Amino acid sequence: MKLIVYPGAPLRGEAQVPGDKSISHRAALFAAMAQGESLIDNFLDSGVTRAMLNALSALGVTWQLDGTRLQVRSPGWNHWQPPAVPLFCGNSATTLRLLAGALAAAGIPAVLDGSPGLRRRPMERIVEPLRAMGVPIAAADGGGAPLHLDARPAGALLRGMKHTLPVASAQVKTCLLLAGLAADAPVEVIEPTLSRDHTERMFKGMGIALEVSRLPDGSARVCLHPPGHPIPPLHGTIPGDISAAAFLLVAALIVPGSDVLIRGVGLNPTRTGLLEALREMGAEIEVENPRTVFGEPVGDLHVRASSLWAGQVQGERVVAMIDEFPAFAAAALYAQGISTVHDAQELRYKESDRIAALVQEVRALGAAAEEHPDGFTIHGGSLKGGTVNPHGDHRLAMALAVAGLAASQAVTIEQAEIIAESFPAFVSTLQGLGAHLEVIP
Ligand code: S3P
Repeated sequence: MKLIVYPGAPLRGEAQVPGDKSISHRAALFAAMAQGESLIDNFLDSGVTRAMLNALSALGVTWQLDGTRLQVRSPGWNHWQPPAVPLFCGNSATTLRLLAGALAAAGIPAVLDGSPGLRRRPMERIVEPLRAMGVPIAAADGGGAPLHLDARPAGALLRGMKHTLPVASAQVKTCLLLAGLAADAPVEVIEPTLSRDHTERMFKGMGIALEVSRLPDGSARVCLHPPGHPIPPLHGTIPGDISAAAFLLVAALIVPGSDVLIRGVGLNPTRTGLLEALREMGAEIEVENPRTVFGEPVGDLHVRASSLWAGQVQGERVVAMIDEFPAFAAAALYAQGISTVHDAQELRYKESDRIAALVQEVRALGAAAEEHPDGFTIHGGSLKGGTVNPHGDHRLAMALAVAGLAASQAVTIEQAEIIAESFPAFVSTLQGLGAHLEVIP
Protein backbone atom coordinates (compact mmCIF):
# COMPACT_ATOMS: atom_id res chain seq x y z
CA MET A 1 0.00 0.00 0.00
CA LYS A 2 1.13 3.55 -0.80
CA LEU A 3 0.16 6.56 1.25
CA ILE A 4 0.17 9.94 -0.47
CA VAL A 5 0.17 12.98 1.81
CA TYR A 6 -0.79 16.35 0.36
CA PRO A 7 0.11 19.57 2.12
CA GLY A 8 -3.00 21.54 2.89
CA ALA A 9 -5.54 22.90 5.27
CA PRO A 10 -5.07 23.38 9.03
CA LEU A 11 -5.86 20.45 11.32
CA ARG A 12 -8.78 21.15 13.60
CA GLY A 13 -10.98 19.26 16.00
CA GLU A 14 -10.74 16.42 18.49
CA ALA A 15 -8.97 13.11 18.13
CA GLN A 16 -8.43 9.96 20.09
CA VAL A 17 -5.39 7.70 19.95
CA PRO A 18 -5.38 3.91 20.43
CA GLY A 19 -4.55 2.23 23.72
CA ASP A 20 -0.90 2.36 24.73
CA LYS A 21 1.17 -0.32 22.98
CA SER A 22 3.49 -1.04 25.93
CA ILE A 23 0.62 -1.29 28.40
CA SER A 24 -1.47 -3.39 25.98
CA HIS A 25 1.36 -5.92 25.61
CA ARG A 26 1.76 -6.09 29.36
CA ALA A 27 -1.98 -6.29 30.02
CA ALA A 28 -2.40 -9.26 27.66
CA LEU A 29 0.64 -11.08 29.01
CA PHE A 30 0.08 -10.38 32.70
CA ALA A 31 -3.58 -11.41 32.33
CA ALA A 32 -2.36 -14.66 30.77
CA MET A 33 0.07 -15.19 33.64
CA ALA A 34 -2.68 -14.57 36.21
CA GLN A 35 -5.09 -17.28 37.24
CA GLY A 36 -8.72 -16.57 36.34
CA GLU A 37 -10.55 -14.12 34.12
CA SER A 38 -9.22 -10.65 33.32
CA LEU A 39 -11.05 -7.84 31.56
CA ILE A 40 -9.18 -4.99 29.86
CA ASP A 41 -10.68 -2.02 28.05
CA ASN A 42 -9.15 0.21 25.35
CA PHE A 43 -6.75 -2.57 24.32
CA LEU A 44 -4.65 -1.75 21.23
CA ASP A 45 -5.73 -4.08 18.42
CA SER A 46 -2.79 -3.92 16.01
CA GLY A 47 -0.15 -6.04 14.29
CA VAL A 48 2.20 -6.25 17.24
CA THR A 49 -0.41 -6.96 19.92
CA ARG A 50 -1.97 -9.65 17.69
CA ALA A 51 1.45 -11.35 17.70
CA MET A 52 1.32 -11.40 21.50
CA LEU A 53 -2.28 -12.69 21.62
CA ASN A 54 -1.59 -15.46 19.10
CA ALA A 55 1.43 -16.60 21.11
CA LEU A 56 -0.75 -16.73 24.25
CA SER A 57 -3.26 -18.98 22.45
CA ALA A 58 -0.46 -21.48 21.76
CA LEU A 59 0.18 -21.63 25.53
CA GLY A 60 -3.39 -22.72 26.32
CA VAL A 61 -4.68 -19.27 27.25
CA THR A 62 -8.07 -18.28 25.82
CA TRP A 63 -8.98 -14.71 24.95
CA GLN A 64 -11.64 -12.77 23.13
CA LEU A 65 -11.25 -9.33 21.64
CA ASP A 66 -14.52 -7.50 21.16
CA GLY A 67 -13.65 -4.11 19.64
CA THR A 68 -11.11 -2.84 22.15
CA ARG A 69 -12.36 -4.94 25.09
CA LEU A 70 -10.08 -7.88 25.81
CA GLN A 71 -11.21 -10.80 27.94
CA VAL A 72 -8.53 -13.33 28.95
CA ARG A 73 -9.03 -16.67 30.70
CA SER A 74 -5.98 -18.50 31.99
CA PRO A 75 -5.05 -21.36 34.30
CA GLY A 76 -2.03 -19.26 35.43
CA TRP A 77 1.55 -19.22 34.20
CA ASN A 78 2.59 -22.39 36.01
CA HIS A 79 -0.13 -24.35 34.16
CA TRP A 80 0.71 -23.14 30.65
CA GLN A 81 1.07 -25.88 28.04
CA PRO A 82 4.28 -26.22 26.00
CA PRO A 83 3.54 -24.68 22.57
CA ALA A 84 3.46 -27.19 19.73
CA VAL A 85 4.93 -24.67 17.26
CA PRO A 86 7.50 -21.85 17.45
CA LEU A 87 5.92 -18.69 18.85
CA PHE A 88 6.08 -16.16 16.02
CA CYS A 89 6.51 -12.64 17.36
CA GLY A 90 6.38 -10.86 13.98
CA ASN A 91 8.21 -7.53 14.16
CA SER A 92 7.67 -7.11 17.87
CA ALA A 93 10.70 -7.14 20.16
CA THR A 94 8.41 -6.36 23.11
CA THR A 95 6.44 -9.55 22.42
CA LEU A 96 9.59 -11.63 22.16
CA ARG A 97 11.51 -10.20 25.12
CA LEU A 98 8.52 -10.17 27.49
CA LEU A 99 7.45 -13.68 26.46
CA ALA A 100 11.00 -14.93 27.05
CA GLY A 101 10.77 -13.82 30.68
CA ALA A 102 7.30 -15.29 31.17
CA LEU A 103 8.30 -18.62 29.57
CA ALA A 104 11.43 -18.68 31.73
CA ALA A 105 9.14 -18.53 34.78
CA ALA A 106 6.84 -21.20 33.35
CA GLY A 107 9.82 -23.49 32.69
CA ILE A 108 8.30 -25.04 29.57
CA PRO A 109 10.13 -25.76 26.32
CA ALA A 110 9.44 -23.20 23.59
CA VAL A 111 10.96 -21.49 20.58
CA LEU A 112 10.58 -17.73 20.10
CA ASP A 113 11.02 -16.43 16.58
CA GLY A 114 10.07 -13.46 14.40
CA SER A 115 10.42 -11.60 11.12
CA PRO A 116 13.84 -11.17 9.48
CA GLY A 117 13.87 -7.66 11.00
CA LEU A 118 13.24 -9.01 14.50
CA ARG A 119 15.90 -11.71 14.04
CA ARG A 120 18.46 -8.94 13.54
CA ARG A 121 17.70 -7.27 16.89
CA PRO A 122 20.00 -7.91 19.86
CA MET A 123 18.84 -10.58 22.31
CA GLU A 124 22.01 -11.24 24.32
CA ARG A 125 20.79 -8.48 26.65
CA ILE A 126 18.08 -10.89 27.90
CA VAL A 127 19.74 -14.26 27.21
CA GLU A 128 22.79 -13.56 29.36
CA PRO A 129 20.97 -12.51 32.58
CA LEU A 130 18.31 -15.21 32.13
CA ARG A 131 21.06 -17.83 31.95
CA ALA A 132 22.55 -16.35 35.12
CA MET A 133 19.19 -17.07 36.78
CA GLY A 134 19.43 -20.70 35.64
CA VAL A 135 17.13 -20.47 32.60
CA PRO A 136 18.05 -23.03 29.92
CA ILE A 137 17.89 -20.59 26.99
CA ALA A 138 20.03 -20.20 23.87
CA ALA A 139 20.07 -17.65 21.05
CA ALA A 140 20.87 -18.29 17.40
CA ASP A 141 24.44 -17.81 16.18
CA GLY A 142 24.93 -14.06 16.18
CA GLY A 143 22.99 -13.63 19.42
CA GLY A 144 19.48 -13.03 18.07
CA ALA A 145 16.20 -14.92 17.56
CA PRO A 146 15.17 -17.69 17.29
CA LEU A 147 15.56 -18.26 21.01
CA HIS A 148 15.26 -21.84 22.32
CA LEU A 149 14.07 -22.51 25.85
CA ASP A 150 14.32 -26.00 27.35
CA ALA A 151 12.11 -27.42 30.09
CA ARG A 152 13.15 -26.84 33.68
CA PRO A 153 13.03 -29.88 36.01
CA ALA A 154 9.69 -30.07 37.86
CA GLY A 155 9.76 -28.24 41.18
CA ALA A 156 13.05 -26.43 40.47
CA LEU A 157 13.09 -22.65 40.96
CA LEU A 158 15.21 -20.02 39.22
CA ARG A 159 17.96 -18.19 41.08
CA GLY A 160 17.29 -14.74 42.47
CA MET A 161 19.95 -12.23 41.43
CA LYS A 162 21.02 -8.65 40.98
CA HIS A 163 21.56 -7.44 37.44
CA THR A 164 22.80 -4.05 36.29
CA LEU A 165 21.73 -3.03 32.80
CA PRO A 166 24.37 -1.18 30.78
CA VAL A 167 21.58 0.64 28.89
CA ALA A 168 18.14 1.49 30.31
CA SER A 169 15.53 -0.85 28.82
CA ALA A 170 11.99 -1.52 29.98
CA GLN A 171 11.82 -4.66 27.84
CA VAL A 172 14.87 -6.20 29.50
CA LYS A 173 13.79 -5.04 32.97
CA THR A 174 10.32 -6.54 32.48
CA CYS A 175 11.72 -9.79 31.09
CA LEU A 176 13.84 -10.30 34.21
CA LEU A 177 11.05 -9.33 36.62
CA LEU A 178 8.71 -11.82 34.91
CA ALA A 179 11.30 -14.60 35.23
CA GLY A 180 11.68 -13.51 38.86
CA LEU A 181 8.12 -14.69 39.59
CA ALA A 182 9.61 -18.22 39.68
CA ALA A 183 12.82 -17.34 41.58
CA ASP A 184 13.95 -18.64 44.96
CA ALA A 185 15.01 -15.16 46.13
CA PRO A 186 14.48 -11.51 45.17
CA VAL A 187 15.41 -10.30 41.69
CA GLU A 188 16.95 -6.85 41.58
CA VAL A 189 17.38 -4.84 38.37
CA ILE A 190 19.37 -1.60 38.22
CA GLU A 191 19.30 0.66 35.17
CA PRO A 192 21.26 3.86 34.54
CA THR A 193 18.05 5.89 34.06
CA LEU A 194 14.48 4.90 34.86
CA SER A 195 12.90 3.45 31.71
CA ARG A 196 9.10 3.27 31.31
CA ASP A 197 7.74 1.84 34.55
CA HIS A 198 4.39 0.39 33.43
CA THR A 199 5.37 -3.09 34.66
CA GLU A 200 6.17 -1.79 38.14
CA ARG A 201 2.85 0.08 38.32
CA MET A 202 0.85 -2.92 37.08
CA PHE A 203 2.64 -5.41 39.36
CA LYS A 204 1.90 -3.19 42.35
CA GLY A 205 -1.74 -3.03 41.27
CA MET A 206 -1.78 -6.84 41.21
CA GLY A 207 -0.40 -7.03 44.74
CA ILE A 208 3.06 -8.28 43.74
CA ALA A 209 5.68 -7.08 46.27
CA LEU A 210 8.10 -4.68 44.60
CA GLU A 211 10.53 -2.06 45.90
CA VAL A 212 11.34 0.86 43.64
CA SER A 213 14.03 3.42 44.48
CA ARG A 214 16.57 5.83 43.04
CA LEU A 215 20.21 5.29 43.99
CA PRO A 216 22.47 8.24 44.96
CA ASP A 217 24.09 8.24 41.48
CA GLY A 218 20.66 8.66 39.83
CA SER A 219 20.29 5.08 38.63
CA ALA A 220 16.95 3.31 39.14
CA ARG A 221 16.54 0.13 41.20
CA VAL A 222 13.62 -2.26 41.25
CA CYS A 223 13.51 -5.35 43.43
CA LEU A 224 10.84 -8.04 43.05
CA HIS A 225 9.99 -10.44 45.85
CA PRO A 226 8.66 -13.65 44.26
CA PRO A 227 5.03 -13.96 45.41
CA GLY A 228 4.97 -17.76 45.83
CA HIS A 229 1.25 -17.85 44.97
CA PRO A 230 -0.83 -17.39 41.79
CA ILE A 231 -1.16 -13.80 40.62
CA PRO A 232 -4.68 -12.31 40.55
CA PRO A 233 -6.54 -11.32 37.36
CA LEU A 234 -6.28 -7.86 35.89
CA HIS A 235 -9.04 -5.27 35.41
CA GLY A 236 -8.61 -1.81 33.96
CA THR A 237 -8.71 0.64 31.06
CA ILE A 238 -5.55 1.29 29.06
CA PRO A 239 -4.64 4.98 28.57
CA GLY A 240 -4.17 6.37 25.06
CA ASP A 241 -0.69 5.92 23.60
CA ILE A 242 1.50 9.02 23.88
CA SER A 243 3.76 7.49 21.22
CA ALA A 244 0.81 7.55 18.79
CA ALA A 245 -0.31 10.99 20.00
CA ALA A 246 3.21 12.24 19.23
CA PHE A 247 2.48 12.18 15.48
CA LEU A 248 -0.77 14.13 15.84
CA LEU A 249 0.93 16.64 18.13
CA VAL A 250 3.71 17.32 15.67
CA ALA A 251 1.25 17.46 12.76
CA ALA A 252 -0.79 20.13 14.56
CA LEU A 253 2.35 22.07 15.50
CA ILE A 254 3.77 22.29 11.99
CA VAL A 255 0.63 22.86 9.89
CA PRO A 256 -0.16 26.60 10.21
CA GLY A 257 -3.52 27.45 11.76
CA SER A 258 -4.03 24.04 13.43
CA ASP A 259 -5.81 23.60 16.76
CA VAL A 260 -6.34 20.03 18.01
CA LEU A 261 -7.47 18.33 21.23
CA ILE A 262 -6.22 14.77 21.75
CA ARG A 263 -8.24 13.04 24.45
CA GLY A 264 -7.16 10.50 27.06
CA VAL A 265 -3.38 10.38 26.51
CA GLY A 266 -1.10 8.53 28.97
CA LEU A 267 1.32 11.01 30.55
CA ASN A 268 3.59 8.74 32.57
CA PRO A 269 6.70 10.87 33.28
CA THR A 270 8.93 8.09 31.92
CA ARG A 271 7.26 8.69 28.53
CA THR A 272 6.84 12.46 28.23
CA GLY A 273 10.31 13.44 27.00
CA LEU A 274 8.94 14.60 23.64
CA LEU A 275 6.44 16.96 25.28
CA GLU A 276 9.28 18.57 27.21
CA ALA A 277 11.52 18.79 24.15
CA LEU A 278 8.75 20.31 22.02
CA ARG A 279 7.84 22.85 24.69
CA GLU A 280 11.48 23.92 24.87
CA MET A 281 11.27 24.42 21.09
CA GLY A 282 8.34 26.81 21.57
CA ALA A 283 5.41 24.41 21.16
CA GLU A 284 2.06 25.45 22.60
CA ILE A 285 0.80 22.27 24.27
CA GLU A 286 -1.50 22.30 27.29
CA VAL A 287 -2.57 19.40 29.46
CA GLU A 288 -6.27 19.55 30.30
CA ASN A 289 -8.36 17.44 32.65
CA PRO A 290 -5.47 15.55 34.35
CA ARG A 291 -6.55 12.28 35.99
CA THR A 292 -5.33 8.79 36.93
CA VAL A 293 -6.36 5.73 34.91
CA PHE A 294 -5.10 2.17 35.61
CA GLY A 295 -2.39 3.56 37.90
CA GLU A 296 -1.12 5.92 35.17
CA PRO A 297 -1.37 9.73 34.82
CA VAL A 298 -3.62 10.68 31.89
CA GLY A 299 -4.72 14.00 30.37
CA ASP A 300 -6.13 15.64 27.25
CA LEU A 301 -3.52 17.40 25.12
CA HIS A 302 -4.50 20.70 23.54
CA VAL A 303 -2.05 21.71 20.83
CA ARG A 304 -1.93 24.73 18.56
CA ALA A 305 0.30 25.40 15.54
CA SER A 306 3.48 27.08 16.81
CA SER A 307 6.65 28.63 15.43
CA LEU A 308 9.35 26.25 16.55
CA TRP A 309 13.03 26.84 17.05
CA ALA A 310 15.58 24.03 16.95
CA GLY A 311 15.80 21.50 19.80
CA GLN A 312 18.71 19.66 21.43
CA VAL A 313 18.18 16.23 22.98
CA GLN A 314 20.74 14.25 24.93
CA GLY A 315 21.34 12.54 28.29
CA GLU A 316 18.44 11.27 30.42
CA ARG A 317 15.82 12.87 28.17
CA VAL A 318 16.62 10.27 25.49
CA VAL A 319 15.12 7.41 27.53
CA ALA A 320 11.88 9.30 28.18
CA MET A 321 11.35 9.79 24.43
CA ILE A 322 13.06 6.68 23.05
CA ASP A 323 10.24 5.93 20.57
CA GLU A 324 9.65 9.57 19.68
CA PHE A 325 12.73 10.47 17.63
CA PRO A 326 10.99 10.03 14.27
CA ALA A 327 8.23 12.42 15.45
CA PHE A 328 10.87 14.77 16.90
CA ALA A 329 12.66 14.75 13.53
CA ALA A 330 9.42 15.73 11.75
CA ALA A 331 9.16 18.76 14.07
CA ALA A 332 12.86 19.59 13.66
CA LEU A 333 12.41 19.71 9.86
CA TYR A 334 10.21 22.79 10.32
CA ALA A 335 12.04 24.38 13.26
CA GLN A 336 14.25 27.40 12.84
CA GLY A 337 17.90 26.38 13.23
CA ILE A 338 19.81 23.13 13.64
CA SER A 339 18.39 20.40 15.91
CA THR A 340 20.76 17.78 17.32
CA VAL A 341 20.33 14.44 19.09
CA HIS A 342 23.12 12.70 21.02
CA ASP A 343 23.39 9.75 23.47
CA ALA A 344 20.79 7.84 21.46
CA GLN A 345 22.78 4.94 19.99
CA GLU A 346 19.90 2.63 21.03
CA LEU A 347 17.99 4.03 18.04
CA ARG A 348 20.16 1.83 15.85
CA TYR A 349 18.48 -1.28 17.37
CA LYS A 350 14.82 -0.36 16.94
CA GLU A 351 12.41 -1.48 14.18
CA SER A 352 14.98 -0.02 11.79
CA ASP A 353 18.35 1.62 12.35
CA ARG A 354 16.44 4.81 13.13
CA ILE A 355 19.50 7.04 12.83
CA ALA A 356 20.55 5.89 9.37
CA ALA A 357 17.02 5.40 8.02
CA LEU A 358 15.70 8.74 9.27
CA VAL A 359 18.61 10.72 7.88
CA GLN A 360 18.43 8.91 4.54
CA GLU A 361 14.69 9.47 4.11
CA VAL A 362 14.50 13.11 5.20
CA ARG A 363 17.32 13.82 2.76
CA ALA A 364 15.21 12.15 0.06
CA LEU A 365 12.57 14.81 0.80
CA GLY A 366 15.07 17.61 0.31
CA ALA A 367 16.18 18.27 3.91
CA ALA A 368 19.77 18.67 5.10
CA ALA A 369 20.59 16.11 7.79
CA GLU A 370 23.63 14.27 9.14
CA GLU A 371 24.17 11.04 10.99
CA HIS A 372 26.24 10.74 14.17
CA PRO A 373 27.24 7.45 15.80
CA ASP A 374 24.82 8.27 18.67
CA GLY A 375 22.26 10.54 17.02
CA PHE A 376 21.59 12.94 14.18
CA THR A 377 21.41 16.57 13.12
CA ILE A 378 18.54 18.12 11.17
CA HIS A 379 18.61 21.55 9.56
CA GLY A 380 15.20 23.14 9.79
CA GLY A 381 13.62 24.87 6.83
CA SER A 382 11.19 23.91 4.15
CA LEU A 383 10.70 20.42 2.76
CA LYS A 384 10.37 19.71 -0.96
CA GLY A 385 8.44 16.43 -0.98
CA GLY A 386 9.04 13.19 -2.87
CA THR A 387 8.87 9.42 -2.34
CA VAL A 388 10.22 7.66 0.74
CA ASN A 389 10.73 4.17 2.10
CA PRO A 390 9.88 3.54 5.76
CA HIS A 391 12.39 0.66 6.10
CA GLY A 392 9.72 -1.60 7.65
CA ASP A 393 9.39 0.82 10.57
CA HIS A 394 5.88 1.96 11.57
CA ARG A 395 7.11 5.05 13.39
CA LEU A 396 9.31 6.16 10.50
CA ALA A 397 6.35 5.79 8.12
CA MET A 398 4.11 7.95 10.35
CA ALA A 399 6.79 10.59 10.91
CA LEU A 400 7.42 10.94 7.17
CA ALA A 401 3.68 11.21 6.56
CA VAL A 402 3.37 13.97 9.16
CA ALA A 403 6.34 15.79 7.67
CA GLY A 404 4.51 15.70 4.33
CA LEU A 405 1.57 17.68 5.74
CA ALA A 406 3.64 20.87 5.68
CA ALA A 407 5.91 20.16 2.67
CA SER A 408 5.76 22.20 -0.52
CA GLN A 409 4.75 19.17 -2.61
CA ALA A 410 3.18 15.76 -1.93
CA VAL A 411 5.04 13.03 -0.03
CA THR A 412 4.49 9.38 -1.01
CA ILE A 413 5.23 6.68 1.55
CA GLU A 414 5.83 3.25 0.02
CA GLN A 415 4.88 0.12 1.98
CA ALA A 416 2.81 2.22 4.33
CA GLU A 417 0.83 -0.82 5.57
CA ILE A 418 3.50 -1.11 8.29
CA ILE A 419 1.66 1.74 10.09
CA ALA A 420 -0.94 -0.83 11.23
CA GLU A 421 1.68 -2.35 13.53
CA SER A 422 0.87 0.26 16.17
CA PHE A 423 -1.72 2.81 14.90
CA PRO A 424 -4.17 1.19 12.46
CA ALA A 425 -6.44 4.28 12.43
CA PHE A 426 -3.58 6.74 11.77
CA VAL A 427 -4.79 7.76 8.29
CA SER A 428 -8.49 8.08 9.20
CA THR A 429 -7.61 10.01 12.38
CA LEU A 430 -5.62 12.59 10.42
CA GLN A 431 -8.34 12.74 7.75
CA GLY A 432 -10.87 13.37 10.53
CA LEU A 433 -8.85 16.45 11.51
CA GLY A 434 -8.94 17.73 7.93
CA ALA A 435 -5.69 16.39 6.49
CA HIS A 436 -5.58 15.33 2.85
CA LEU A 437 -4.20 11.79 2.60
CA GLU A 438 -4.79 9.20 -0.09
CA VAL A 439 -4.29 5.45 0.24
CA ILE A 440 -3.36 3.50 -2.91
CA PRO A 441 -3.85 -0.24 -2.26
C1 S3P B 1 9.12 -0.91 25.23
C2 S3P B 1 10.36 -0.46 25.58
C3 S3P B 1 11.25 0.27 24.66
C4 S3P B 1 10.48 0.82 23.46
C5 S3P B 1 9.54 -0.19 22.87
C6 S3P B 1 8.54 -0.67 23.90
C7 S3P B 1 8.33 -1.65 26.22
O1 S3P B 1 12.25 -0.61 24.20
O2 S3P B 1 11.38 1.28 22.49
O3 S3P B 1 8.83 0.35 21.78
O4 S3P B 1 7.11 -1.83 26.02
O5 S3P B 1 8.89 -2.07 27.25
P1 S3P B 1 13.60 -0.90 25.07
O6 S3P B 1 13.19 -1.42 26.36
O7 S3P B 1 14.32 -1.93 24.29
O8 S3P B 1 14.31 0.43 25.10
